[in-house]
Amino acid sequence: MNILIIGGGGRENALAWKIAQSPKCKKLYAMPGNPGISEFAECVADEPILNFAKKNSIDLVVIGPEASLVEGLSDELTAAGIKTFGPNKAAAQIEGSKIFAKNLMKKYNIPTATYEIFEDVTRACRYIKAAGAPIVVKADGLAAGKGVIVAKTVDEAINAVFEVMEQKNFGDAGNRIVIEEFMDGEEASLLAFTDGKTIIPMIPSQDHKRVNDGDEGLNTGGMGAYAPAPIMTEEIIKKAEEKILKPIIAALNNEGITYKGCLYAGLMIVNGEPKVVEFNARFGDPETQVVLPLLESDLVEIILSCIDGTLEDQKISWSNDSAVCVVLASKGYPQKFEKGFEIDGLNKAKSLDTLIFHAGTKKVDDKILTNGGRVLGVVAKSENIKSAVDKAYKAAEVIHFENMHFRKDIAHRALK
Ligand code: AMP
Ligand code: GLY
Repeated sequence: MNILIIGGGGRENALAWKIAQSPKCKKLYAMPGNPGISEFAECVADEPILNFAKKNSIDLVVIGPEASLVEGLSDELTAAGIKTFGPNKAAAQIEGSKIFAKNLMKKYNIPTATYEIFEDVTRACRYIKAAGAPIVVKADGLAAGKGVIVAKTVDEAINAVFEVMEQKNFGDAGNRIVIEEFMDGEEASLLAFTDGKTIIPMIPSQDHKRVNDGDEGLNTGGMGAYAPAPIMTEEIIKKAEEKILKPIIAALNNEGITYKGCLYAGLMIVNGEPKVVEFNARFGDPETQVVLPLLESDLVEIILSCIDGTLEDQKISWSNDSAVCVVLASKGYPQKFEKGFEIDGLNKAKSLDTLIFHAGTKKVDDKILTNGGRVLGVVAKSENIKSAVDKAYKAAEVIHFENMHFRKDIAHRALK
């Protein structure tokens, strides 16, 4: 098959690495891709995707980023007869609108934080004063992972309301907001394959959202990840399947929506019970960078079964190993940072039995330069989390670029 991956981050680098191993993959393209992806795929400049797909006889498109899904890229390609992995526009609302997701969960009794919806600043503030803190304020729409404010005090929450609704820090995404109960527990990410009928969870993982060690500092897209996450015991996975994954697919069906693709459930484990923090309509990043290296089955076969509605017949097998990803970021991320610094040590790091996935890099002449907040994912696989952590950090230490920042405590919860 001729396969096209949409996107150009660490998640798409992991997807390209895995898809290129499939005997079904004859030719792989990525739009726009990145220098890491170019090892496995021909990277092509952005152009109307349908045009490109027709011109190059693309048989399968795998969509990485949420924005394309929410805009309806999957619908457009599917209508043109091109097999596409990624939910349609209606299904992608589960990530595109927090209000849609929360209302759906409420209607179908899927465990999540209690919440209220507001379109009005005064009412929102009155509610916060009555409810007290900690409390969580969320912009309804897509905000590149930044539209959530976990407020420790009432003042902080009220500030957040003003920033989101009046100053429009996230544009129209903040026209409406969700204010919800603070859930105190440990987080985990449970990604799942679904064809809209059957839903099969992948290996559970845990992401590190805060920028600094000890989970301090601003929220980022994710500074590292590991899998499996010990917090997700077999019992909790079972509960998540029965109380969250299967019911949400059934709920969507009941609303006339068929969800096909990867469904990402961000969970909070509170006293042994999984509750939904959020749903994403796509693979997580960096979670994908640790989950896919543990997948032993052919990803393309699984993807095709999701599209064709035959996931029930798929055998999906996983390695018993553990995987750890340390994100090497630009100092200053997730706020202002500089880019364009040369990266050294990539080959040496790779020779230490690791995968180096590119997230924000570009190639200029023969040099690889930093080109984003998250620059690289250093991924190691080993028989347990501890040895995978050691391996990943050994490799991270031979990579250098100016202003490099990374967390030194990835997987700390699993090592406790
Ligand atoms: P989200 O963008 O929805 O993933 O939210 C970003 C982060 O905010 C999550 O990963 C959690 O760490 C935190 N968060 C979101 N909602 C809640 C909640 N109701 N209680 C506690 N923490 C939350
Ligand atoms: N790592 C969080 C996300 O992909 O949304």
